[in-house]
Amino acid sequence: MQWRMDAGGQTLAFGTDGGLPAVIYWGARLPEGEDLAQLAASARHDLTGGMIDTLPDLTLTPESGRVFAGQPGLICAEADGTPLHPVFRFDRTEAAEGRLSLISTAQGITLTHHITAQATGVFTLQTVLEADRDIRISWLAAPVLPAPQAAETMVDVHGRWVREFHLNHVKWTPGIRLREARTGRSGHEHPPYLILPEFGCTNTQGAAYALHYAWSGGHRMVAEELPDGRRQVQFGAPLGAEPRPARRFATAELIAVHSQSGLNGIAAAFQADTRDRVVTWPNPGRPRPVHYNCWEAIYFNHTLADLSEIADRAAALGAERFVLDDGWFGRRDDDTTSLGDWTIDRNKWPEGLHPLIAHVKSLGMTFGLWFEPEMVNPDSDLHRAHPDWMLGPVDQVTGRNQLVLDLSRAEVRDYLFTAVSAILAEYDIDYIKWDHNRLLPVVDVAQADGAYDLFDRLRAAHPGVEIESCASGGGRIDAGILARTHRVWLSDCIDAEERLRMQHDAALFLPSCVTGSHVGAFHSHTTGRALPMAFRAWVAAQRHFGFEMDPRKISDADAAVLREVTAWYKANRDWMMAGRILRLDSADPTVTAEMQLAKDGGRFVLFAGQNAQTVQILPRPLRLTGLDPAARYRITLRNPGDKPPQSRGPNALKDGPLVLSGAALMGQGILLPVAWPATMWVVEGERL
Ligand code: DGJ
Repeated sequence: MQWRMDAGGQTLAFGTDGGLPAVIYWGARLPEGEDLAQLAASARHDLTGGMIDTLPDLTLTPESGRVFAGQPGLICAEADGTPLHPVFRFDRTEAAEGRLSLISTAQGITLTHHITAQATGVFTLQTVLEADRDIRISWLAAPVLPAPQAAETMVDVHGRWVREFHLNHVKWTPGIRLREARTGRSGHEHPPYLILPEFGCTNTQGAAYALHYAWSGGHRMVAEELPDGRRQVQFGAPLGAEPRPARRFATAELIAVHSQSGLNGIAAAFQADTRDRVVTWPNPGRPRPVHYNCWEAIYFNHTLADLSEIADRAAALGAERFVLDDGWFGRRDDDTTSLGDWTIDRNKWPEGLHPLIAHVKSLGMTFGLWFEPEMVNPDSDLHRAHPDWMLGPVDQVTGRNQLVLDLSRAEVRDYLFTAVSAILAEYDIDYIKWDHNRLLPVVDVAQADGAYDLFDRLRAAHPGVEIESCASGGGRIDAGILARTHRVWLSDCIDAEERLRMQHDAALFLPSCVTGSHVGAFHSHTTGRALPMAFRAWVAAQRHFGFEMDPRKISDADAAVLREVTAWYKANRDWMMAGRILRLDSADPTVTAEMQLAKDGGRFVLFAGQNAQTVQILPRPLRLTGLDPAARYRITLRNPGDKPPQSRGPNALKDGPLVLSGAALMGQGILLPVAWPATMWVVEGERL
């Protein structure tokens, strides 16, 4: 038996000879009428010495009971610990429009593999296990997919606080690459993404596959080259995250993409899927407002006078949403106290937040507020009243002076729902910055389930409120959290040089509309680096734009630059947010370049960020991508005034627009003026 599913430009086909189904094809979309029996036959391997007499299929859940020589997709036991090695028989399918469920059984256990072809062009896959008695699970993988053989490397993502989203290029070798996020968050360290490029794949050409595990509580990934050379990838919860016997277990959804147009095909599919399916927008037509966030301007030192003046300046620069960060509640004068006590600090705010919010609204801005609901300081009324509400061992070290609340407990969630809801009901708040600043003391899916429940209840009770996921910057960025939030704080590092690279790599997975990016102070608070305003502003304008410096401390000249870039962002944000970010194959490693292409292909903007001194004297040509070769485009350098004094030649773009075909722009590319480090060239393009 065989089945086939198509999503966008990709096809997934499955087959079974009576056991668990296996993938018989994953790749570019097959022609209608492809003979699936022939496809299954073509996927069958030979045997040779050193092998058992029948090759176990690489099924959607490789089984330990079938002498499978690699990592099994299920490790389970009876409730008393007696190991189980079920050997499943395929039973039946259930199908609905765009959805296929493959159901197999063994020893009173039913294993269901759900596959959904999403309208956004991705597949989502989930494994559900149901037993007729309580059993224990130590590993359950989402449906297991084969990894390409015509490939030398895999690319996964690593980061740390203030240096998120770094791409690891790891060579395939016999054996496993194991990654496990055991911090209770999707994590800075091992965010749950994997790209599998084939030979010759670049940003703009070649074939690639990619997987994203849509879960915020940490994950385990096994990418394995089996002794026989086949390759598999498994994603699931970290080991030990399902500590209780139960009758039902389900993995999170695995999002799968195949591209024939290089890494940009992966990026475009993930970006569209996040924006158009995963995120549920309170008001989809609302332009992404320009943020002002006060954290790096004043930290915990809140006064109405300072914040009112800051709000005046931010509004004059073009801000549309004012976010009051940490420090407004309990006795929160530093990070040692008060998390959990979600009542206004009357020393700082004798009349509550009403005067500030009234002022912010009088300036035409909406108001956002910071919370960190899952956390508690030992020095808090909440902890004194409920020391038993903590997650993990009684005797544990704190992280940023804080402990974690056990969100698997209904009374804890009820308390948090009531406390956060009371603030949202009293004040006109359209945005929460939801922080999560410490690593969890234990790994347990129940904590992420509890957090999701709290998000869902607050969303239902306050449907107009947008939420940002922040976890010391980018510590909780995944499709599980984005199904409940609307923006991610990519990093606490807003040094534009760092951000340029970070957001460029994050664009492989994240659309512009959810990726918060702010203009920081002249001297970055996390690196000390000093950067010109034009560069800081243009880098932030590549994504969901905002400011985070103290606007009282910027010069008139810098304010003028910032006002201009803000106006540009407002004029262009709608088509940019609805479009695609396409990474360019820059021939110069000191240039990080991308295009943002409108949905209808009618316009684009190219950002080329000069991050360091070039090796050669002259800029190398930059090839565009995603254009119609036959169409003609007018390209205009938006900011020729940012050229350095040493730029003294006749570069055409400095003097005005050029009109060229898509073929010329993509084939030969464009020559930009020479640039100092920390220059962003902005080239606007329009199809004629
Ligand atoms: C960590 C966040 O990433 C910062 O942006 C800020 O909100 C602080 N927490 C506040 O404590």
